[in-house]
Amino acid sequence: MLVASNRGPVSYAVGEGGSLNAKRGGGGLVSGLSAIGADADALWVCSALSDGDREAVRRGVGEDGVRMLDIPADVHADAYNGIANSVLWFVHHMLYQTPLEPVFDAEFRRQWASYETYNRAFAEALAEEAARGAVVVVQDYHLTLVPGMLRELRPDLRIGHFSHTPWAPPEYFRMLPDDVAGQVLRGMLGADRLGFLTQRWADAFTACAEQFAGGLGGTRIGVHGLGADADFLRKRSHQQDVEERMAALREEIGEGRRTIVRVDRTELSKNIVRGLLAYRRLLETHAEWRERVVHVAFAYPSRQDLAVYRDYTAEVQRLAEEINAEYGTPGWTPVVLHVKDDFARSLAAYRLADVALVNPIRDGMNLVAKEVPVISDAGCALVLSREAGAYEELGEDAITVNPYDVTGTAAALHEALSMRPEERAERSKRLAAAATALPPARWFLDQLQALRG
Ligand code: G6P
Repeated sequence: MLVASNRGPVSYAVGEGGSLNAKRGGGGLVSGLSAIGADADALWVCSALSDGDREAVRRGVGEDGVRMLDIPADVHADAYNGIANSVLWFVHHMLYQTPLEPVFDAEFRRQWASYETYNRAFAEALAEEAARGAVVVVQDYHLTLVPGMLRELRPDLRIGHFSHTPWAPPEYFRMLPDDVAGQVLRGMLGADRLGFLTQRWADAFTACAEQFAGGLGGTRIGVHGLGADADFLRKRSHQQDVEERMAALREEIGEGRRTIVRVDRTELSKNIVRGLLAYRRLLETHAEWRERVVHVAFAYPSRQDLAVYRDYTAEVQRLAEEINAEYGTPGWTPVVLHVKDDFARSLAAYRLADVALVNPIRDGMNLVAKEVPVISDAGCALVLSREAGAYEELGEDAITVNPYDVTGTAAALHEALSMRPEERAERSKRLAAAATALPPARWFLDQLQALRG
């Protein structure tokens, strides 16, 4: 069995004296696939992303079962920053808006050629590594052309593709140049089976295939709603480093205050700015919460090669400072914002959460919404966007919001903070049960079985 994804399970940084320090890869894809490590026969093919990764490839350093492809840095940058994250991510999350609509010009064509090269490098590596009749599962929007390319090289393989993002509806997808849209769809349809996180994204893909590619052909579609890994989270969140960070966070929050927690990559689709605006609105309209609540917001840097992400990060920081200047008092900091990635601290915040705020504009699933109820110590209320994939499974016990509606989100925060402790604990329990219904290992095995069957 082979897995292919842009980001792999580890990434390396060159430390002092040239040592290589390994770090766990971030984001939902890596969390979901973490269970593969247990399969001795599996090979995970991924891309070298950092200078440290390239150095690791050169020195032959690496983990068993992982092959990193050292694709030339400029080709990778075009494919990853240019096409995958600036075009395909924006299309599927419907993030283009005036004046940021795409301009598909000669620069785009050059980047698209790199995207093809990059996809071909994966297809060739997979063709080389796969045993006869092996199962290959390709991941996400970075690698949409791989299934079709691989099918040509190796017709004997069972090929799956899984999307960790939403899929754009046809009216939005057709922003892409026709030939590019056709290539993406035909590339995907080279797979025996395509997996999506929710029925909504699967339906959108099917509609695109019907309108722009003459239908699904022989390709089957499946829905697999990745859940949280309860065993791992419960164990990990009670280790010493998490306890230490809880103590530090308690200091920052202050005695006897409620906590609204959010943890995201600093990502446009996560809607962090409107979340802060909603929190400001809460303090403005419900003065009773002043001094009695703290918004703990972790916004970890992501895709900082892109100017629009750097600007967004700066705006998040500016707004947090503004709220603190406007409402803060000597003993109370209304927003505690951290931007340095720290997994143990994220878990500490989850445990302390009274309310979890998950308000993306559009999100394939959103694992944070599933993880917080599982490990919050006293049970948490969940304020959840109806545009997150997780809404399909958690909508009933969450307080749901339209992510664009800032006053509505402020009202939802007030409702969540005001919930009776018993009701909050009960709902949190039901949320946790729904959130862990399909743990990563099962989620992945189901896909393999469906592919083999
Ligand atoms: C999302 C995508 C993943 C990606 C992750 C982190 O979850 O679906 O494919 O790995 O974001 O983003 P990054 O660009 O840092 O890999």
